[in-house]
Amino acid sequence: MSKKKQSSDASPAVLPAHIAIVMDGNGRWAKKRMMPRAAGHKAGVAALKKIIESASEAGIKCLTVFAFSSENWNRPEREVAILMDLFVSSIKKYLPELQQAGVVLRFIGDRSVFSDKLKASLQQAETSTQNNNFLNLNIAMNYGGRWDITEAAKKMLQDTSSGAVAAEQINESLFSEYLSLADLPAVDLFIRTGGEHRISNFLLWQCAYSELYFTDVLWPDFNGQELKQATQWFSSRQRRFGRTGEQVEEDAVSEHTK
Ligand code: FPP
Repeated sequence: MSKKKQSSDASPAVLPAHIAIVMDGNGRWAKKRMMPRAAGHKAGVAALKKIIESASEAGIKCLTVFAFSSENWNRPEREVAILMDLFVSSIKKYLPELQQAGVVLRFIGDRSVFSDKLKASLQQAETSTQNNNFLNLNIAMNYGGRWDITEAAKKMLQDTSSGAVAAEQINESLFSEYLSLADLPAVDLFIRTGGEHRISNFLLWQCAYSELYFTDVLWPDFNGQELKQATQWFSSRQRRFGRTGEQVEEDAVSEHTK
């Protein structure tokens, strides 16, 4: 095995605990093939399935994907209907496999507006996988980062009004307990496919210190190799969290010599 091959196959030194992905580019992928946009979304589901496998194999503990934003309702009615049907059929199709693989499925976002059928399917997927303990897979649907923060503020205010929480107790740590995914680590690596360099109202609070990785690859073409490239790029980043580069290096040396 050549040295080059060895290093490209090596596992990244620092693995992100939590990866968030904006799966963009399904429509363009389909258009390039003169296919309807629905075919792009279908290929997007297949890509997601492969990425779940690759992430599990790589030892990633949490994966959160943006399947439908609160702004996606602005798409043509027919495309929205196709996406809703695809959510129901994909969950039905893949749930047994995800269950067997030990995946904990969770859906974040405002589901109150979904059809009863979709709501039931989300509930069933969550209930049947809640005792698993392998990969945490969170699917954001009708989700927006601002919505998440506003909901958290509402809930915290209720607790303040009822006396369960005193205003003086409020700090970032307490506030974050009211957000979606409060029990999971913050997002380490944020990936967006499809060439745009935007966060698009995804996990705004949870991504405060994420490393941002943008690729031109369209979502249906994003595969295990692409994920590996992203995680290897992540492991080369120096995460400073406000410290200087020198401080980070000194801490790394003392950690190493402990
Ligand atoms: C963005 O591409 C993609 C979406 C809005 C939908 C993503 C949904 C999936 C991949 C399916 C997930 C399924 C389950 C069960 C969670 P786009 O349509 O905006 O592409 P474009 O920018 O090229 O037009």
